[in-house]
Order: sequence, then structure tokens, then C-alpha cells
Amino acid sequence: MLEAEGIVKEFGAGGRRVRALKGVSLCVREGESVGLVGETGSGKTTLAKVMMGLIRPEGGSVRARGTPLESLTAAGRRRFRREFQMVFQQPLASLDPNFTVEQTLAEPLAVHAFPGDERQGRIRRTLEAVGLLPEVLEKWPAQLSGGQRQRVAIARGLILDPALLVLDEPVSALDLSVQAQVLHLLAGLRRGRGLTYLLVAHDMGVVEFLCDRVAVMYHGVVLEEGPVGEVWRGPLHPYTRRLLEARLPLEPGRGVGEAAAEAPPLPVWDRQPPLEEVRPGHRVAPAGP
Ligand SMILES: Nc1ncnc2c1ncn2[C@@H]1O[C@H](COP(=O)(O)OP(=O)(O)O)[C@@H](O)[C@H]1O
Ligand SMILES: [Mg+2]
Repeated sequence: MLEAEGIVKEFGAGGRRVRALKGVSLCVREGESVGLVGETGSGKTTLAKVMMGLIRPEGGSVRARGTPLESLTAAGRRRFRREFQMVFQQPLASLDPNFTVEQTLAEPLAVHAFPGDERQGRIRRTLEAVGLLPEVLEKWPAQLSGGQRQRVAIARGLILDPALLVLDEPVSALDLSVQAQVLHLLAGLRRGRGLTYLLVAHDMGVVEFLCDRVAVMYHGVVLEEGPVGEVWRGPLHPYTRRLLEARLPLEPGRGVGEAAAEAPPLPVWDRQPPLEEVRPGHRVAPAGP
């Protein structure tokens, strides 16, 4: 459904360049939920944005349902924008402070020219789907709790009935008690709507709960990918083992990434190493560059 191949992305100008992605590949098949994990700064958000066509990479290509993004016709691009949605990392930053909840939800419907008489019904149904009451429609983002804001951000991602939803750290900014509610909401939405998810998290627990497959990123490369259960029971790469050992289940303010980063650093790869398929669908990089 969505496939990135050999993506290279650099940031910065002049002498200070950061290679955020070093030739990474990742694919998301229809109906599955793929987790992308790794410590802060490993390139997860950048890869998600490249796959959504929001950032143009220096190398590699992204295909949506087989068509390279740069070859989409104008109509194809509009369809892509409607069917592939992203909920951004910081719910407050991703909601316009000058828009009420109603305006936030109405905007995508206006952009995609939904008939005016269908908009109210769709807004109410989507609000209900994310567990919010109609009274929040008149509120501003600053008047909402963290959990409500994230639900509004998810509602905005859902309002166009997408086929694929990218969720970037959907619970890491939330209080512990609210995290579980939002995770259950996401699990229910996935079942109910047959959504395909690409879920970015630095917390392995989130991925374990919501995903079928997982890819582990480290400094701009993928070191291991495979079925979640298998990677959990038998992690092949030393970095994955370290992430799992360091796991502090859903501890606020301190994800596995931070804990793992405190261990002696692993060497950094300058380009994506080839992954060896050890079992069907379970692939791993060499232990070191
Ligand atoms: N707009 C940007 N300008 C410059 N550097 C960036 C930009 N976005 C990301 N980076 C850098 O790219 C690397 C990967 O960042 P990011 O994709 O946000 O990682 P993650 O989501 O895994 O925390 C980091 O070193 C980050 O500082
Ligand atoms: Mg990020």
C-alpha cells in the first residue's frame, strides 16, 4: 500500500549537514499495522513524513499503491492526500490554536470539497468515534485536556475516511492513565474501520499492543524488522535486545529510547546495511558496520 525504498534524507546547509535517513526501506501492506521504533533522533518522524510526501528525499523513492509519488497525476495526488493521513507528533502543535474543534474538523472537508450538507453529520460521527461529546466542538485547543486534544487530532486524521493512518507518537505526550484509553481507542478504530496503520513510537509497549510488524531504527538506518511477537521473543540484533532490556513500560517522560541511549553507544552506520532474512519476514542487519 505504501512503500519506501532506499530513502536518503539530509538536513542542514553548508558544513553542518545531518544525514537523517541513510538509504532506508520500509513497506506497509494493506490492512496491517506496522510499528516504527527507535530512540529520539533516529529518523522515525522524517521517514514517516517522506512516506507521506511531506518531505522530499534526496534519494530513493516512495510508492503508494505501486505508483511513485512524483508520478501521481493531479487527481492521483488529491486522492493520495485524502486516503493517506498523518496525525502529527505534538497534538498541540498540530492543532491550529485559532481554530475551534469544529473548524479543525471542517477544514479537511472543505479542502476536499465535501458537499455542505454532509459535513455536519460526518463531523458528529467522527467525534463520536473518538469518544468526544458534541460540546467540545465550540472549544479552542487551549481549553482541552491533553487526551481530548489527541482525540481531536485523531478525529481530524479520520474525518476523510482514510485507508492508511500514520500516527506519530500518539500517546507519548499523554498522562499514563490517558495513554491506555487512547491506545484502546486506536485498537478499536483499527478493527472497526479496517484501517492500515503506520505507528511511530519510542515505546516498545505501544508497538506490542497495536502492531503486527515492527521495524527498529537506529541513527538513520533500519537494523531489524519482523513480526512483533517474533521480534519480542527472539530479537536478533544487539540493538533490539538492548531496547527490549531497557524497556520501562509506559513510564512517563522516560521512554525506552532514552534508557537505551544511556548504555555504551553502538557504532553508527553511514549507510543502510543489507538486511539478512533469517526467518520468513524477519530480517536483521549485521551486528556492526
Ligand atoms: N527540519 C529539520 N532540520 C534539521 N534537522 C532535522 C529536521 N528534522 C529532523 N532533523 C534531524 O534529523 C534527525 C532525525 O530526526 P527525527 O526524524 O525527528 O527523529 P525521531 O522522530 O526518531 O525522533 C535528528 O538528528 C534531527 O535533529
Ligand atoms: Mg519523532
